[in-house]
Amino acid sequence: MYLALYRKYRPRTFDEVIGQDHIITTLKNQIKLDKISHAYLFTGSRGTGKTTTAKIFAKAINCTNSSDGSPCLECETCKALDKTNIDVLEIDAASNNGVDEIRDLREKVKYPPVVGKYKVYIIDEVHMLSTSAFNALLKTLEEPPAHTVFILATTEVHKLPATILSRCIRFDFKLVSVEDLSAILRKILKEEGVTFDEQAISVIARAGEGSVRDTLSIADRCVSYSGNNLTYQKVVEVLGISEKETLIALSDLILKKDVGSALVELDKVLSSGKSPLVFASNLISYFRDLLLIYSLGDKAREIVVVKDDIYEKMKGQATAENYGELVSAIEILSSVEQELRYSTLPRLVLETAIIKTISNISLEQRVSALEEKLKNFPS
Ligand SMILES: Nc1ncnc2c1ncn2[C@@H]1O[C@H](COP(=O)(O)OP(=O)(O)OP(=O)(O)O)[C@@H](O)[C@H]1O
Ligand SMILES: [Mg+2]
Ligand SMILES: [Zn+2]
Repeated sequence: MYLALYRKYRPRTFDEVIGQDHIITTLKNQIKLDKISHAYLFTGSRGTGKTTTAKIFAKAINCTNSSDGSPCLECETCKALDKTNIDVLEIDAASNNGVDEIRDLREKVKYPPVVGKYKVYIIDEVHMLSTSAFNALLKTLEEPPAHTVFILATTEVHKLPATILSRCIRFDFKLVSVEDLSAILRKILKEEGVTFDEQAISVIARAGEGSVRDTLSIADRCVSYSGNNLTYQKVVEVLGISEKETLIALSDLILKKDVGSALVELDKVLSSGKSPLVFASNLISYFRDLLLIYSLGDKAREIVVVKDDIYEKMKGQATAENYGELVSAIEILSSVEQELRYSTLPRLVLETAIIKTISNISLEQRVSALEEKLKNFPS
């Protein structure tokens, strides 16, 4: 049976988890110093390692032979936990609002662990719990038995009640950088005996948008299409051009100062599940590519990795006339990147930035029109 790459290469030790060093270091230290808390909250985007880290942590705190905080994978407890899930229980809050599961948990939480020191409850998608399930969980969190550890995981932390938040140590899983994603891709493809070119790696890593799982799924798709020789051309064929087409359409509307249609176009993208933060940074890269095309002329062809027809369309947008507008669009969008990362309403932040970009562009155009007129006046 074929096992998807992201399942085959699920990390089993802390050192294999990439891009989350800040979290891994803290967790290892807690284990080394024997300062385990009762409740952890793992938040952050999809496929960045929340569930994986929770499982490693559950094993690590029970391992009898750990030297650096990571599970040794060899002691009796580590081996037992591989075989049975008796002390590490996973609850999927997405099923059935979790009411029965949490009630059941309230019943069983008093029994001590069987093989290890701690009984660990991993509650995935915890934001899906119903109000009554949250209340039941809260009671348990308020008086946790000494031998229990809770790890709550969610992509949507803003949906959690403050009462729950205040009882957990919170760890924010970051989007993984293109460099880290490229490195893991190279490593895994080598192990799989797949040859590749660097451009193929870079396109897949970027398409993964910070998610390790998505990156590996895309790599899977590309490899099953191209066979054991992964080339840039094949990757582009598999990924299609949908993202670039959207960027062309939206940037056209921005440059034309059509606020209404631009917001409709943006809505289409975000409704399809794309994160505002990721899309904003793609839009910035797109505008930057246009600047490159304008400034470098034909030399930009090697740097801007897109299909020929897309490149032609981009060339049409990269004009002297649009130059100032592209610069100010980049400035405005970059200035809200931090806000997008931390806002609870990232969509609104991005919409406002786009409106601002457009009104700035109109202003820019009016100023240059005025300057043009002034030139004709005798001084
Ligand atoms: N930081 C990481 N380092 C290495 N591999 C990772 C990392 N994050 C995710 N992966 C890969 O992606 C797969 C899924 O990861 P995981 O289930 O831990 O993500 P998650 O953050 O819990 O996602 P979700 O929010 O969708 O539940 C893993 O099996 C692993 O192959
Ligand atoms: Mg998960
Ligand atoms: Zn062990």
